[in-house]
Amino acid sequence: MTPETVLTGITTTGTPHLGNYVGAIRPAVAASRRRDVQSYYFLADLHALVKNQDPDAVHRSSLEVAATWLALGLDTERAVFYRQSDIPEIPELTWILTAMTAKGLMNRAHAYKAAVQANEEAGSADPDRGITMALFCYPILMAADILLFKAQRVPVGQDQKQHVEMARDIAQRFNHHFGEHFVLPEADIGEATAVLLGLDGRKMSKSYDNTIPLFAPARQLRKLIMRIKTNSLEPGQPKDTEGSTLFEIYRAFATPAEVTAMRERFAAGIGWGALKDELFEYLDAQLRGPRAEYERLVAAPDHVEAVLRRGAERARTLAAPFLAEIRRAVGIRPLG
Ligand code: TRP
Repeated sequence: MTPETVLTGITTTGTPHLGNYVGAIRPAVAASRRRDVQSYYFLADLHALVKNQDPDAVHRSSLEVAATWLALGLDTERAVFYRQSDIPEIPELTWILTAMTAKGLMNRAHAYKAAVQANEEAGSADPDRGITMALFCYPILMAADILLFKAQRVPVGQDQKQHVEMARDIAQRFNHHFGEHFVLPEADIGEATAVLLGLDGRKMSKSYDNTIPLFAPARQLRKLIMRIKTNSLEPGQPKDTEGSTLFEIYRAFATPAEVTAMRERFAAGIGWGALKDELFEYLDAQLRGPRAEYERLVAAPDHVEAVLRRGAERARTLAAPFLAEIRRAVGIRPLG
């Protein structure tokens, strides 16, 4: 059986948090071990340039994201793990696809539309104020990431679904003009349970500034857990698990039997303070091992660099011949 090709990118714009772990990293690391899946995971550092003007932050985030995935046991023998900017075929394919992409399609991208709307609401005379071509063309770069490796399934959050659909549209248009070269990808949206709540009870997200860094040192982890919003019910009063951030975080890490037991303790009126202490101990016990490995890797950037370069070499053995095929298809080939 030919394994299914699964690919996803991680934008290098921050420090991985618990929500990233539960929603993306944990399932991806598990998939990297499956025999029926060939996975491609990469640091989307070219995408990071769109959102970030701070070179040191992009650089630091690349190390942190790579070290996180490695510390959590990503099988880099099976999965191909690389950095987008190490694959020159990606920007080249981006340009070829740009020539096949309707501007109208990009006009409809949610991220672009949101930026225009923000300008209009701010009363700006220019609706495109502050919007770069990179923001506008972001979905084309992402299409190149996906199509270059013939990905069949692309696990992403709901917010990225449209981008995968655009990659599909672009591939279809290309195939129609130049022959069947690209595989049409499908977005794989994680279930609702894969969304973790943050400190303030909204979705845990960097944009809400309510995250708990996955490998925060134990003391900081404890402090952040103590800050999680609860209601004013006293110990002894029965509590609802529904909408409880503490419960949701526990549930994302615990076994089904543990979750059932916890539901009973909510009904019996567990106190918020005691629960917070317990949640800290529980998470710390699970994260202690990988956290130590993460710290070791962050202190050994040469090693992480070598792993990424090896991954890029493997990625390019596939990307280079396929891009050569695409070049020929569009008429870029030797004269004699
Ligand atoms: N844009 C994605 C995000 O912000 C990251 C990404 C870049 C990606 N290229 C990709 C995801 C290709 C899936 C496939 O989350």
